[in-house]
Amino acid sequence: MIFEQVAVGTFQNFAYIVGDETTKKAAIIDPAWEVDKLQEECDHLGLKVAYVINTHSHHDHVEGNEKVAKRNGAKVVMHQTSPVRKDLAVKDGDIIELGSVRIKVIHTPGHCPDHICLLADGKLLTGDALFVGECGRTDLSGGDPGAMYDSLFQKLMILDDKIEVYPGHDYGPRTSSTIGEERRNNYTLKNRTKEEFLRFMAEP
Ligand SMILES: [Fe+2]
Repeated sequence: MIFEQVAVGTFQNFAYIVGDETTKKAAIIDPAWEVDKLQEECDHLGLKVAYVINTHSHHDHVEGNEKVAKRNGAKVVMHQTSPVRKDLAVKDGDIIELGSVRIKVIHTPGHCPDHICLLADGKLLTGDALFVGECGRTDLSGGDPGAMYDSLFQKLMILDDKIEVYPGHDYGPRTSSTIGEERRNNYTLKNRTKEEFLRFMAEP
């Protein structure tokens, strides 16, 4: 699998390029702010951008969707509850295929209702659900700390320790991590009951 993390814009966003080595079919995940840079990288790698996939509908993750879609004839893929224009609506457990690369959709609401994580070839794109050393905020419109608890502990922390974590923002001490490292070091993932987690998230 071809995989690149690309820093874009002034909000420390990460966009990602995922591609299939044989067919050169690719997806850009969360294209925003510096679409030309993402396009140039795909062109340089000889990739054909078939999909735009968004981890969630916040502006700083979807801002470049239409430009990428139009330029490449790519389809926009988002969770079925997303209010943003899409060609393909996905739900938990769906698989997006890029040649031999299989991208699994994991619905992880909490930061916002339409948030998904994407798992491909041992790499987990965690958007604004999980950062290196932090979890996403739940105090924005559509945020839900109870849903965040379920997403983190029932959807992500059940994954293998070796799975690599690639967040939607560069907020941590490193640009990527693993499920095992986050399980051990991320203070938001300490063993807590749901009530304890809700109290923790309500603290300033
Ligand atoms: Fe966000």
